[in-house]
Amino acid sequence: MLEASSRSQLQAALTPYKRAGKRVALVPTMGNLHQGHLSLVQLASQHADVVVTSIFVNPTQFGPNEDFASYPRTLAADREALRNSQCSVLFTPTTADLYPFGGDCAVMLKAPAALTNCLCGARRPGHFEGVLSVVARLLLISQAEIAVFGEKDYQQLLLIERMCADLGFATRILRGPTQREDSGLAISSRNQYLQPTELARAAALHASLNQLQQQIRAGNHDYDALRQAAIKHLQAQQIEVEYLQIVNATTLQSASNNDRQLRILIAARLPGARLIDNIGVEI
Ligand code: PAF
Repeated sequence: MLEASSRSQLQAALTPYKRAGKRVALVPTMGNLHQGHLSLVQLASQHADVVVTSIFVNPTQFGPNEDFASYPRTLAADREALRNSQCSVLFTPTTADLYPFGGDCAVMLKAPAALTNCLCGARRPGHFEGVLSVVARLLLISQAEIAVFGEKDYQQLLLIERMCADLGFATRILRGPTQREDSGLAISSRNQYLQPTELARAAALHASLNQLQQQIRAGNHDYDALRQAAIKHLQAQQIEVEYLQIVNATTLQSASNNDRQLRILIAARLPGARLIDNIGVEI
């Protein structure tokens, strides 16, 4: 595995591959890698000759009261995990590489309000502007043909797909399926903050999503009643539901009976962590 810790080093590492007509895939991450990230690397390797994994804790996607300073930085362990994966190049840019004019003078992308004023975006103002602004930079620097993002962060994935389509990026975005524990709990770096009893309780999130999926498939399209019942059920298990929404999978607006592709998304708080998950339903 090659390593590049600056924009120019990455471009130097990729030039021979590009000259030889090899396909480059990018897997952007903020590090603290787990099985979910490694599955994205594996997916990338099935579609490209060279897989670049970037690790960069992006300051512009954290709000003033969020955990940028304490975000886990585990480069040694991440490097080891990537060495044992299909990753060809580890890219660890500096802030100056990605924001050469400094945070205050950086050009930032504006995310469409309809896709950001809801779900996680409603609770994290400016977050998705930061995500789009860093992902655009990473795509431009790497000139990747393919980039892979996890479905677990569904709103983020949709916004990145929209950005690439709207701005005419040549990069094809691949969706990486959510990786799960045996209990069904979505694998996330935040799971490490949960005590074993909380971990067991957290499996109720996926169970609720599954049940809603089955109810909708069985023909129950009273989405509001379904979500209210699911929220009550989770609250009865002492799970604080931040949101549970059944939406159109493309617009993220509340699902109507004409919609055929739905997404059910949840964010919930347990002592120790805020967790998110989602599931698709085709009608
Ligand atoms: O999902 C993440 O880890 C981050 O939001 C991303 C896409 C790497 C941008 O910083």
